[in-house]
Amino acid sequence: MSFRILGTGMCVPSRVVTNDELARMLDTSDGWIRQRVGVRERHVCTDETAADLGYRAALDALEDSGCRAGDIDLIIAATVSGEDTAPSVSCSVQQMLGISCSAFDINASCSGFVFLLEIAAGFFARGTAKRVLIIGAERLSRITDWEDRGTCVIFGDGAGAAVLGEGSEYLCSKFTVEGGSDVIHIPQHTGKSPFFGRETASPYIKMRGRETFKYAVEAICSDVNYILDSNGLNIDDISYIVPHQANARIIDFAAERLKLDKSRFYQNIELYGNTSSASIPIALDEMNKNGLLHSGDLLLFTAFGGGLAHAACLVRWTKN
Ligand code: COA
Repeated sequence: MSFRILGTGMCVPSRVVTNDELARMLDTSDGWIRQRVGVRERHVCTDETAADLGYRAALDALEDSGCRAGDIDLIIAATVSGEDTAPSVSCSVQQMLGISCSAFDINASCSGFVFLLEIAAGFFARGTAKRVLIIGAERLSRITDWEDRGTCVIFGDGAGAAVLGEGSEYLCSKFTVEGGSDVIHIPQHTGKSPFFGRETASPYIKMRGRETFKYAVEAICSDVNYILDSNGLNIDDISYIVPHQANARIIDFAAERLKLDKSRFYQNIELYGNTSSASIPIALDEMNKNGLLHSGDLLLFTAFGGGLAHAACLVRWTKN
């Protein structure tokens, strides 16, 4: 027993920031960002929190699933940018939904959604949950250095969610963590302890772009090959590869190295930027709501990011 996906949802803040708007704040241009990253615009919170976005994505997913909030017996959220350490994003969503159930957060950076699926599968396998709400919710604009043109042009805010029910459609997964704090680092506020002697680092995303790029291409290629090989599948058996939306060129390079047409990879980074743990569930919701998915379709999710962590899994879509 694992699960099947009963419904999906998403939410992005209404404020859109275009590349041209960024070019008025920084030494960058629409042409550079489109060509090097593939982003045209991103959504940025003005007064919403990560939990607010997660809540709205959850309502959307509940409606799509036909379940009531009260049917949910576990909420798990993935985030690196929730406003509060406590309550966690999942606990805040639980309170906003007005239900009583178990709830906790995880942090696996941009791979968070794939880790959520694996954790949820464990609850279903043990029979300790019948309906699980999983959420990737990020307000990355909170931890973005808006003066660093090498990072701030990449990221966006948003949330995606899915409601899972009992089933056997989670077919295979792989998780890898390789170190690399010098490649992607998001320091926390160091506190005011008079006993702690380490230097304070500014609490914003720091990234070595080129190293991240190479790591990401390698991660996608090795994980896609692993999922195909270990299931005796070839690429024509897969309806869509749904990658973490970090950079369109990363996906293009991976497609080229895997000798696949890039249309095999679902892409929407142009409109949202990189929304970390929210990027895969937002993509999934778009695919679902736009009628791209049919019962029996095999979906291969592949993600990578801070940790350095990368993860992939195979899910059979059975909705509709
Ligand atoms: N606008 C204009 N120029 C920029 C720029 C911007 N927003 N950001 C960087 N540049 C400049 C650099 O300063 C550099 O200038 P120089 O040659 O005069 O020194 C030049 O562009 C090339 O910089 P480089 O960092 O080598 O570019 P790149 O092609 O590697 O692109 C990234 C930079 C960040 C877009 C790219 O490395 C990337 O996407 N990496 C992966 C990021 C990612 O996916 N992160 C999330 C992982 S989950």
